[in-house]
Amino acid sequence: MEGSKQKRVIGIVGSPRRNGNTEILVDEVLAGAEEAGAQTKKITLNDLNIAPCQACNTCLKTGECVQQDDMAKLLEKMESSQVWVFGTPIYWWGPTAQFKAFIDRWYGVKKTVFRGRRVILVIPLAWGDPYYARHTVGMFEDILPYQGMEHFATVLALGVESRGEVRGHTNVLAKARRIGREAISGTIHSKKI
Ligand SMILES: Cc1cc2nc3c(=O)[nH]c(=O)nc-3n(C[C@H](O)[C@H](O)[C@H](O)COP(=O)(O)O)c2cc1C
Repeated sequence: MEGSKQKRVIGIVGSPRRNGNTEILVDEVLAGAEEAGAQTKKITLNDLNIAPCQACNTCLKTGECVQQDDMAKLLEKMESSQVWVFGTPIYWWGPTAQFKAFIDRWYGVKKTVFRGRRVILVIPLAWGDPYYARHTVGMFEDILPYQGMEHFATVLALGVESRGEVRGHTNVLAKARRIGREAISGTIHSKKI
């Protein structure tokens, strides 16, 4: 990540549950980034109208989706941010439908939009073993480099089921905040915590 200008960070929450574990953790990452001097913004996919891809392939020719919904505006916001925080809980071993629809809509988007973006993944799940997040983490581990993004870190929150339960996991909250700070201050970080 280059440049000395104030960094912008966008947090994208893929859970439909307000004040849920995903949102709380994304907020922590954003708070850490703000502590390090970044400007932040949070988007909840469930508040937007992002229709599933219809596989018409028009975007591959024109670079634009034929569906007139909120995706274009969201992409503009993403383009103005250097760091992207992607949050989704595990639903049936995968990401939420909201998050998957969002990813599918990247199909015809120019690769330059993605290239070099620093990405932090935030993934809470009810079960207590990272094994159950392996498909979702693996999906991102393939997609991010394919699109030229930098996978900076993954915050997994294991064993959190009820709304806001992650507030009791102070170590995970602290790690989320630290990663947010480090994503801006430039500390080299391993992908997993
Ligand atoms: C439809 C649905 C499917 C779920 N599937 C899984 C699952 O496969 N594995 C798991 O560990 N937790 C599963 N969960 C639990 C959520 O991942 C967990 O409650 C998470 O903390 C929710 O995050 P949120 O509060 O941000 O919505 C599921 C929850 C829902 C509503």
